[in-house]
Amino acid sequence: MIWAMRPIVIAANWKMNTTPADAGELARAIAGRTREPDVVRVICPPFVCLAAVRDAVAGEGIGVGAQNVHGELAGAHTGEVSAPMLAGLATWVILGHSERRRDAGETDEIIGRKLRRAVDGGLRPILCVGEQLAEREGGRAEEVVATQLRGALEGHDPAELARAGLVIAYEPVWAIGTGRNASGADAGAMAEAIRRVLRAAGWGTLAEATPVLYGGSATSANIAEFLAEPAVDGALVGGASLKPDEMAGIVARAAVTAAARRAAAG
Ligand code: 13P
Repeated sequence: MIWAMRPIVIAANWKMNTTPADAGELARAIAGRTREPDVVRVICPPFVCLAAVRDAVAGEGIGVGAQNVHGELAGAHTGEVSAPMLAGLATWVILGHSERRRDAGETDEIIGRKLRRAVDGGLRPILCVGEQLAEREGGRAEEVVATQLRGALEGHDPAELARAGLVIAYEPVWAIGTGRNASGADAGAMAEAIRRVLRAAGWGTLAEATPVLYGGSATSANIAEFLAEPAVDGALVGGASLKPDEMAGIVARAAVTAAARRAAAG
């Protein structure tokens, strides 16, 4: 089965939380409680905490990611951080998070440029897509996500993005930070819809090889529901990722799925 080739990824998005003084300790606590070799673990702290987290998880096999990157390489962009600046600090990057679309006015076109910089900079992108509540209630969720995907991926070479290890995170905006998660079935259906969009864009078998994560109030209590969906390959975790107990539960459950999928693949 092709999906069995995809990794199970649990990525922590710490958002605007932690400081350089406390991020290392939190990262170490999470690392110590999530040692599952079959699960790809990633921690995405604020920029200023990247070095502390990198040092804290050295040798643990945990990826360190930024939460954003600028669409240009350098220049007059006060307060921004470019991909080359992240060399040695991060190997992953979250792009197009709905909070950046909301707070910083990021469009699909801007996100597409950031994707270019991420790939050129050797950063593994986690591209976020997701609909607003009114869009879901209006029956337009798949259409909105398809538009976001097509916009961000336009002009990119599927093979190059696949080589860069592109991960797509489906994060319905109404589920983020609300305690109201999507159903596993909805997440699974959207993950399938995402791969249909990729296939329609000429991705062929690369669509099946691209991991799709769920994000939005994911916790140790509901992670099983998402991982039970064959199309869903892990989670992008916000609030719960600041709690080592929660991360331990989430990654332990992810390890069960990883083992089951490996066994099913023979
Ligand atoms: P919460 O898990 O806090 O809902 O956040 C999800 C998210 O936005 C991860 O990127």
